[in-house]
Amino acid sequence: MASASNCIPYSSSFSSNKSPLSDNRRKNPTVKFTCKAKNNEQRPETTSKNGGNSPVKLDRRDVLVGIGGLYRTSLAVNSMNLAKPALPDFKDCIEARQPNGTPINCCPPAIDKIEDYVPSATTIRTRMAAQSFTVDSDYYKKYSTAIQKMKNLSLTDPRNFLQQANVHCAYCDGGYTQKGNPNLLYEIHYSWLFFPWHRWFLYFFEKICQNLIDDDTFALPFWNWDAPEGMQIPPMYNSVVTSPLYDFLRNPDHLPPSVINLEWCNGDTTVPPNDQIKYNLAIMYTQMITQSKTQTDFFGSPYRAGDDITTLSGAGQIEQTPHNHVHSWTGTTVDPSNPINMGVFYSAARDPIFYAHHANIDRIWTIWLNQLKGTNITDVDWLTAYFIFYNEEAKPVRVRIQDCLDPTKLGYTYEDVPIPWLDASAKPKPRAKGKTLPSAPDPAQVFPVILDKTINVIVKRPKKSGSGSPEEILVIEGIEYDKRSYVKFNVYINEDDVNACRPDNTEFLGSFSNLPHGHRMNVKANKKFRISEVLEELGARDYDKVLVTLVPKSSPVQINGIKIEFHS
Ligand code: C2O
Repeated sequence: MASASNCIPYSSSFSSNKSPLSDNRRKNPTVKFTCKAKNNEQRPETTSKNGGNSPVKLDRRDVLVGIGGLYRTSLAVNSMNLAKPALPDFKDCIEARQPNGTPINCCPPAIDKIEDYVPSATTIRTRMAAQSFTVDSDYYKKYSTAIQKMKNLSLTDPRNFLQQANVHCAYCDGGYTQKGNPNLLYEIHYSWLFFPWHRWFLYFFEKICQNLIDDDTFALPFWNWDAPEGMQIPPMYNSVVTSPLYDFLRNPDHLPPSVINLEWCNGDTTVPPNDQIKYNLAIMYTQMITQSKTQTDFFGSPYRAGDDITTLSGAGQIEQTPHNHVHSWTGTTVDPSNPINMGVFYSAARDPIFYAHHANIDRIWTIWLNQLKGTNITDVDWLTAYFIFYNEEAKPVRVRIQDCLDPTKLGYTYEDVPIPWLDASAKPKPRAKGKTLPSAPDPAQVFPVILDKTINVIVKRPKKSGSGSPEEILVIEGIEYDKRSYVKFNVYINEDDVNACRPDNTEFLGSFSNLPHGHRMNVKANKKFRISEVLEELGARDYDKVLVTLVPKSSPVQINGIKIEFHS
């Protein structure tokens, strides 16, 4: 396996002081705030539950409302008034919606007092790859006992397994509105909240497990779907139908030995396992390396108070692929219009495998930082955004993103397993020399269009102005769809035969996808792909036009345009 250091063609483009997020609009241009602080600087102090100095920066509104068990004073820091993180209005949980519109009450039991929490672990436990455990192992006994105990708790206990799944539901299917903006729903997917929210969610879920089995060395497993050894449903989750780790609502066609397809969508044909493994590794390389060069690429776009998530275009590369597809591959499609448990957000966390899936997503975050030399966001609106969870004592606690950035402070690390995709880059298809691109119409003649069949357009490349080497970005503009529906389409560049194009071909740029949500109906998103390196690979650096092909894989969406632009 290649060492990580020779797999980072772009590490020099990172700068910890300059946030690459600055290209993103802020709703209120008068409150521009540049955070030059590193993660631990520039924060007023307040006492935390742990008694230590909590690096919590408070929003003025919090001080006025005074929620929580702490009394806060001396917070007259100017920047505080400028910070506008998107926050959930936790006091006002409303009925969420299933994608078919049926109301579902995911609201947690009523709470009166919320305490701030800052972790300060003194020991480290290791989250291990799930495939290494069988149902005979001691680990399985502990883990399944913990989950069974969670399932046995009273439904009025917020640590109850279904209540925990409901925490996820409330945070993503319209259970909360935005604090201070009651007309806007709050959402923890499709933006820079995605990685940290799920990290905190797992943290407390793990704590609850530890507490129920009285073993604070217990750590959740991770589903290592990015390596061949982990590309099936791990045995623990599938061996015994009476196991609390088993879920009947998984796709019966995808039980072992079926190999996961990290670009899966309903209707895809099965390919031989070794091919699928090869494709998966290339997909990981594309998503983690070719397409995740900036913080916005990786984490998703900023989400601040007043932002409307339905127009934000916010999901990061990993959240879309493989995250979404692992969900839809695992969830059942008994009724394809109403996939359940893993396939839909409101019920996803009812399948115990959800937590192993997200432990791997969380591990991927650590890989992006450590092996690929990415950096965490330093924007104060990200650092100070908070969430509320239930701890192992069933008490509500408020936690901030800035306090989850170091997993060792949270008391865990990941087993060091091989990362075979680090050198699995996609390769161009062999092509006849001198073959020219087929002709296709100009985007202006085609868009807007309902994507109900394959569409080819020839897109002009803009002329570079000035010095430097800006990155060329292909933008699919104004993707309009109903958030309750499953959406996927694939995007290819300079490919004249998409049926013969595989995910390990450079010509396959990736996909756009949406997992069904119970949110309000209409979404308008953009999707961007980095193409400088891709065109170089394809030997098309000097072309003045490229062929772009969109292939629908789900019910149709409307697309309003395609263009290429430069990002510095
Ligand atoms: Cu909150 Cu994998 O979803």
